[in-house]
Amino acid sequence: MKKILVAGASGYLGRYVVKTFKQRGFWVRALGRNAAKLNSIGEYADELFIGEVTDPISLDGLCDGIDVVFSSVGITRQEDGLTYKDVDYQGNRNLLTIAEESGVSKFVYVHVLNAEKLQHIAMIEAKQAFVDELKQSALDHTVICPSGFFSDMEEFLSMARSGRVYLFGDGSNRINPIHGADLAEVCAIALEGPEPQLDVGGPEVFTYREIAELAFDVIGKPGKITCLPKKLVASAVRVLRWVTPIKTYGPVQFLTAVMTMDVVGEPHGARRLASHFRSCYETVGHKTANELRHSSMPTKHHP
Ligand SMILES: NC(=O)c1ccc[n+]([C@@H]2O[C@H](COP(=O)([O-])OP(=O)(O)OC[C@H]3O[C@@H](n4cnc5c(N)ncnc54)[C@H](OP(=O)(O)O)[C@@H]3O)[C@@H](O)[C@H]2O)c1
Repeated sequence: MKKILVAGASGYLGRYVVKTFKQRGFWVRALGRNAAKLNSIGEYADELFIGEVTDPISLDGLCDGIDVVFSSVGITRQEDGLTYKDVDYQGNRNLLTIAEESGVSKFVYVHVLNAEKLQHIAMIEAKQAFVDELKQSALDHTVICPSGFFSDMEEFLSMARSGRVYLFGDGSNRINPIHGADLAEVCAIALEGPEPQLDVGGPEVFTYREIAELAFDVIGKPGKITCLPKKLVASAVRVLRWVTPIKTYGPVQFLTAVMTMDVVGEPHGARRLASHFRSCYETVGHKTANELRHSSMPTKHHP
């Protein structure tokens, strides 16, 4: 039985990945830095390892006996005062080093779709620097490049609840978002597959405007959509860069870029965004999973 290390196990994707890998018969060691968050996935993992990817000393023994390392470690909404370079680059670089030293045979890493067009974005620059080193390493590897996750689409529900959805650009660009459980299935295939890179999206393609309309439809409110012109947004982002910290500026910079380009990967999975929106909205007291994630930890994800 292959032994897999899952780094990022406490995150949105990582939780589905741990569960899916176990269901597919792999032995799973889950890495996390927060014991409470990690314990909440304990029933699925064979072993929990508390360590901090930015602190190599805390990773001693992490890859002992491991065949494949999977990492979805990266800053999304964390506010630790760390930079993308600290976590997305150096944290993953530390994992790669220990994997190389421990005789691991393969490294599977979750990157971002369209990264080649987004090199000017701080987050992507850090991720790409890691991918470049992964490609140079002696390890077999698969780089998974997904479109947006359903967890991120929940922002449309939050905005719709407040009465207005703001779009960057005219809302005509397209995306095929993917559910974490569907993406986890692709990650499981990547553990043993030969592909160096997989560009992945969900089964349905939407314009951003259609996602906003879907969110209003689910909550049963009339839709008010405001499109912020691309040029105006670009100028605002340039100003933000100088007046806000990276934790504020970074996600805005990323979002403005991806909302003004098509982000469509090879379709995978069957889970539909409308069902996800409905289950978010109806089953958790009209709060989205993201809102819950920030109000109480640990958080359960929707089916
Ligand atoms: N969300 C999207 O739409 C999307 C789309 C394409 C690609 N991606 C990429 O896919 C990956 C996974 O995304 P996700 O939505 O699952 O993100 P997530 O829920 O924020 O999970 C990220 C994981 O990285 C860990 N992490 C973050 N900062 C850390 C730090 N300073 N030290 C140690 N661990 C740290 C988190 O640990 P804690 O739980 O302890 O914070 C968590 O386990 C990310 O690299 C993201 O950029 C995301």
